[in-house]
Amino acid sequence: MKVLIVGSGGREHAIAWKVSKSPLVDKIYCAPGNAGIAQIAECVPIGAMEFEKLADFAQEKGIDLTVIGMDEPLVGGIVDVFEERGLRVFGPRKDTAVIEGSKVFSKNLMQKYGIPTGAYEIFSDADEAVKYLETSKYPIVVKADGLALGKGALICNNFEEAKGAVSTLMLEKQFGASGDRVVVEEFLIGREVSVLCFSDGTTIKTMTSAQDHKRAKDGDQGLNTGGMGTFSPTPFYTKEVDEFCKKYVYQPTIDAMKQEGRDFKGILFVGLILTEDGPKVLEYNARFGDPETQVVLPRMKNDIVEVFEACIDGKLDAVDLQFEDNAAVCVILASDGYPEKYEKGFVIGGLNAFDGKEDYFCFHSGSKLDDEGKIVTNGGRVLGVTALGRDLKEARANAYKATEWVNFENKYMRSDIGKAIDEAQ
Ligand code: GLY
Repeated sequence: MKVLIVGSGGREHAIAWKVSKSPLVDKIYCAPGNAGIAQIAECVPIGAMEFEKLADFAQEKGIDLTVIGMDEPLVGGIVDVFEERGLRVFGPRKDTAVIEGSKVFSKNLMQKYGIPTGAYEIFSDADEAVKYLETSKYPIVVKADGLALGKGALICNNFEEAKGAVSTLMLEKQFGASGDRVVVEEFLIGREVSVLCFSDGTTIKTMTSAQDHKRAKDGDQGLNTGGMGTFSPTPFYTKEVDEFCKKYVYQPTIDAMKQEGRDFKGILFVGLILTEDGPKVLEYNARFGDPETQVVLPRMKNDIVEVFEACIDGKLDAVDLQFEDNAAVCVILASDGYPEKYEKGFVIGGLNAFDGKEDYFCFHSGSKLDDEGKIVTNGGRVLGVTALGRDLKEARANAYKATEWVNFENKYMRSDIGKAIDEAQ
């Protein structure tokens, strides 16, 4: 089989690595990819939003399966374009990816079908939003309706901050049309958990749990980022929580989507918060999480291509999804200054240290080959260093050891990824 993966980050590197383990696959392409992905796939210089060019490429090369990693092309309708051309593609259609593309849609869906989530109000007028916020209880969360690079949820501690958030999103349009409407949402307290699920539209199967670290600095301080590290599984996602969510969240969500005429085929990524009143949905995404994928896929036993095919063909019920009884930790090596201003173009050294080590992975997020053929930094998040271990403590020690193997100027990482595990055990 020939497989095309669309995207260029650590998530797509992890997907490409897992696809490369499938005996069904002879050739992998990635568009546009990065310097790490280029070691296992042929990277092609087509952007993730160039749907027609990507579909032309898939037809010319006789691609058997295309996997979409990123949110923007999914929300923009890439799957519809591929399907219209008769191409096999893994991911939800545009009318279904809206579950991630519009917070207004997803909150209304949850309310309509009784899926547990925080109380909320929707505003399309900034003055009305501010008026409501004058008498609100704080803290409160103001969220952009549309995609905002993971930075569209603003936690506000008082009225002044909330007024500022409304202005940033709705008047200054920091995230463009994504801020045309806002959701003002109850601030929920609890541990956050990410659960990625495969869905064929009727059957939904959960992968192992993971936890992200969104803030830039230790102790969950600093600005929100795309994610600074993950661990899997999280001890807070107990068997009871899993049973509750299967009954009240995961299956009801795809049933609700079906009821709305939007069969969900692809990855449903449920962002949960474990509150005193039970698990609640913070958000849905319609794709693999990043960096969650970098700890989940190394623990997955199945041939991922078989699972992708089962989802497309509506046969997920026949798949026995299994994960190793071990643990994984991923530490993101970023460019100092991320998520604000940072420099790039620095040579990355030490990557060979990962060669031949089955329990260690270096997934590239932002790297490229320079004119001399050297691998250089090319983004805020540069590498995701993942290690396995018998348990989370061992995986954490291994991951931090491996972060020392690679070096580049301005290398920055958090030192407390997975520290909550030590506190809980
Ligand atoms: N790690 C959060 C996300 O992928 O959206």
